[in-house]
Amino acid sequence: MTKIITVVNQKGGVGKSTISQFTGNELKSRGYKVLFIDLDPQGNLSYSLGVNILELENSQTIYEPLTNGTDAGKAILKTEQADIIPASQFLASADIGNFALSNALEPLKSAYDVIIIDTPPTLSTLVINALTASDALVIPALADAYSLQGLGQLRNTIEAVQDALNPSLTIAGILLTKYDKRKVLTRTIYKMLKDTAESLNTKVFDAKIRDAIAITEAQAMQQDILKYDPHTNVVRDIKAYVNELEKEW
Ligand SMILES: Nc1ncnc2c1ncn2[C@@H]1O[C@H](COP(=O)(O)OP(=O)(O)OP(=O)(O)O)[C@@H](O)[C@H]1O
Ligand SMILES: [Mg+2]
Repeated sequence: MTKIITVVNQKGGVGKSTISQFTGNELKSRGYKVLFIDLDPQGNLSYSLGVNILELENSQTIYEPLTNGTDAGKAILKTEQADIIPASQFLASADIGNFALSNALEPLKSAYDVIIIDTPPTLSTLVINALTASDALVIPALADAYSLQGLGQLRNTIEAVQDALNPSLTIAGILLTKYDKRKVLTRTIYKMLKDTAESLNTKVFDAKIRDAIAITEAQAMQQDILKYDPHTNVVRDIKAYVNELEKEW
């Protein structure tokens, strides 16, 4: 059965697009058929896969399937890294119903094992659509108080979706990103993190994604870090995280 995974956190810059890209590319390297969906009008994930969304017609993006119910299969773009339905800059102002994405993805499921959805730093209709269409969530977070405090707000949205739109939605875990190994997790932050995970009925992944310059470099060159610098330490982090994610299936 196709697994739909959304990477979500309304806080900006916590590593959502980066984690989406890794998760998909690592799963692809393990033999899964992977499709990316870029739901963020910023188009960062599309960019990382070598796609400039400003050059695309609406019909070549997720915009038309969401707003007009057109065949999302026609918007699939094959890139060197994986297949993607790119974002559109017009998504932010799009008027879409809660089940639009869910409906758009349904006919694509037979062709893919995993669909990875990257989301914008909001709690907008786009995010509601992603949560409604998903089986599981990965929540990237930084190990700081503001970052963790914001997860309470995210929890309310997740619970609202579970109650009204998608009762089978689960949270795979909270993933610490841009992690600085030289800084110990203070007891206060650690407790906040554990409490937050508990209140979300989920866990914190044992793996942490360290802060690594190689990531910024690979993204600037629109490359897959797993191929760009396969022996770097952060690639080990990514594989350890994906091992944990895969075990839950
Ligand atoms: N582990 C890491 N080490 C170093 N830099 C990282 C790491 N993860 C992400 N970054 C960098 O941090 C910035 C933000 O990451 P990213 O775009 O993935 O976050 P985001 O949550 O998707 O942001 P937004 O909320 O704007 O969509 C990017 O410049 C990215 O290259
Ligand atoms: Mg992003």
